[in-house]
Amino acid sequence: MSSFIPRPTLDLIDLLLGEHAALLSLLRYLDNHRPSMDLTALREAARALEAVLMAHAIEEDSLLFHALPADQRGVRETLDAMFAEHNEQRRLLSELLAAEELPAARSLMKRVIELTREHFAVEERVLFGLARQILPLERLTDLGAEFARRRGISRPS
Ligand SMILES: [Fe+2]
Ligand SMILES: [Fe+2]
Repeated sequence: MSSFIPRPTLDLIDLLLGEHAALLSLLRYLDNHRPSMDLTALREAARALEAVLMAHAIEEDSLLFHALPADQRGVRETLDAMFAEHNEQRRLLSELLAAEELPAARSLMKRVIELTREHFAVEERVLFGLARQILPLERLTDLGAEFARRRGISRPS
């Protein structure tokens, strides 16, 4: 008897949601530990957060945002807002990395955590649904394959 079990194909939205899940776990950890972290610990955490969050934003910008028709009603406004929030995340993290005072660093960490949670919620509620309505599944699957290749993960065929 064959043990073959058909798997649904992962598309770009599934993969981005997986990264949101991992990043939300990291944000929860940082939010819980933020009150007891000193300046050095906050800066190290900010560097790690910057690495994963910016990698996520870069793939979203280059794969998903570029694939969507910016001239379509509702799309331009959503993309502009999401792109501006990626820049705001980047700005808050560099401000945090340069912070000299502990209260300022703690408050900047709180702001970047809150902004990122709200940003993910809007992407999940608005942008990803829009992408699934507009882009054919085959296109999203091809973009998912490119995302996996860039991340260096292998996927079952
Ligand atoms: Fe994003
Ligand atoms: Fe995202």
